[in-house]
Amino acid sequence: MALLPQLDNSSTEPIYRQLHAYIRQEILSGRLAPGERIPPTRELAGQLGLNRATVASAYELLEQEGLIRGHVGRGSFVAGPGFRWDERFMAAPASDPPIPSADGVINFTSARPAEELFPMDEFRASCTEVIEGGEAVKILQLGSPLGYAPLRRYLLAGASPESDVLVSSGCQQAFDLLQRLFTQPGDTVLVEDPIYPGLRNVFARAGVRTVGVPVGPDGLDTEALPRLITRERSRLLVVTPNFQNPTGATMPLAARQNLLKNAHESGLIVVENDIYGDLRYAGEPLPTLAQLDGSGLTLQIKSFSKLAFPGLRVGWVVGPRAVIARLAEIKQWTDLHSDQLSQAVLLRFAESGRLDRHRQRMVEAGAERLKAVLEACERHLPAGTRFTRPQGGMNLWVRLPEPLDASELLPRAQAAGASYLPGRYFAVTRPEPGALRLSFAGLTPAAIESGLARLGRMFKDELEVARSAPSAGLEPAIV
Ligand SMILES: Cc1ncc(COP(=O)(O)O)c(C=O)c1O
Repeated sequence: MALLPQLDNSSTEPIYRQLHAYIRQEILSGRLAPGERIPPTRELAGQLGLNRATVASAYELLEQEGLIRGHVGRGSFVAGPGFRWDERFMAAPASDPPIPSADGVINFTSARPAEELFPMDEFRASCTEVIEGGEAVKILQLGSPLGYAPLRRYLLAGASPESDVLVSSGCQQAFDLLQRLFTQPGDTVLVEDPIYPGLRNVFARAGVRTVGVPVGPDGLDTEALPRLITRERSRLLVVTPNFQNPTGATMPLAARQNLLKNAHESGLIVVENDIYGDLRYAGEPLPTLAQLDGSGLTLQIKSFSKLAFPGLRVGWVVGPRAVIARLAEIKQWTDLHSDQLSQAVLLRFAESGRLDRHRQRMVEAGAERLKAVLEACERHLPAGTRFTRPQGGMNLWVRLPEPLDASELLPRAQAAGASYLPGRYFAVTRPEPGALRLSFAGLTPAAIESGLARLGRMFKDELEVARSAPSAGLEPAIV
């Protein structure tokens, strides 16, 4: 088809743009069909009395938009309007963007173990023993959606005889499977407020409402629970009694008992997330909800991610047989089963005694890091700052004095050389602009000290500026 654009030399629009707009319109209207050849730049330039570079610029824009494709030696062809993938995507809940990390910035942003504490020799030995062992061929074959049987037996030791276990790809997949089993769009689930965003997002994606139960110094506020259960007609509660993320709070025994009493009275299913339970640095261990509950209403999820290797993606759910059987069905639809080599290596790591030795080192390192972060908060953060005092886990929750806003100050913090996650990442129903999470377990005591010195200086400067700014004052009344 001949190209006959009306080009206007007197227009402020450059000629190459006019030519681009003309050919674009010809393609989008279908007058130039997909696959049709368009004249080479030299030929079209000759026909239209234009410079060849002008035509080449128009073609370049068309190519960038995916409307034409050039084939070396064969000229350019109409590619047809690009497929609009974005129009085909289902609406997804907006999630907060990840915090970019830059060289030299001390990151308090991620609740993960320190790489320098990974026991690499012991890990390599466990891998070798599995690969050279008699089970290797079976491990490489397709397995059960419930998980690798020897690991399942290990995980079930000490659980009630009515319980069963399903191995998942971390706690994160366990959340997803539980959501699919127990909820449908429009349902309401009770979660802690503030909460680990990965949990909130699983329910949001499925159209399930999350309602926040406030978290105080003693973890989830069980006094607020009965009213919320009745008002929200919730069927499910997810709770982290040990070293909650993001606050680091731990529920005392009486609160755990109170929670179970409320759940039994109302038929609420309780999912206990005990992902941080092995990382206690101070105080006496407390019985888990699963241990306290005689009724079988509690499902417990755990994983190796915080204690050992998050990259292996091995977690699990322990609960009544009927529940685990249904979860296995759902798991099968999702990914057939979790990776068996990771499961077998972790089992070997555990049965050889290496996991216990590693736990010991993790607890010692965690205790030092917790002490460092608490002392550094005390030393560097401005007067009026409040922060939690966890007995374990990886996180603590800081509330800056008013009017500081942790979200607004994040770019300043990064420029000063330290980063954190602002409170809004964790909010369910109660935003706290002054709050932020410090994840301390992945940093050495020296990095913790230096990172908090940087943050403290910046917060103090900002506070001074905010407090010395003249107040807006009242405008005279309009009379
Ligand atoms: C409270 C909580 N639950 C679940 C997860 C996800 O853990 P996993 O790596 O086992 O999927 C995390 C990770 O940070 C977490 O903090």
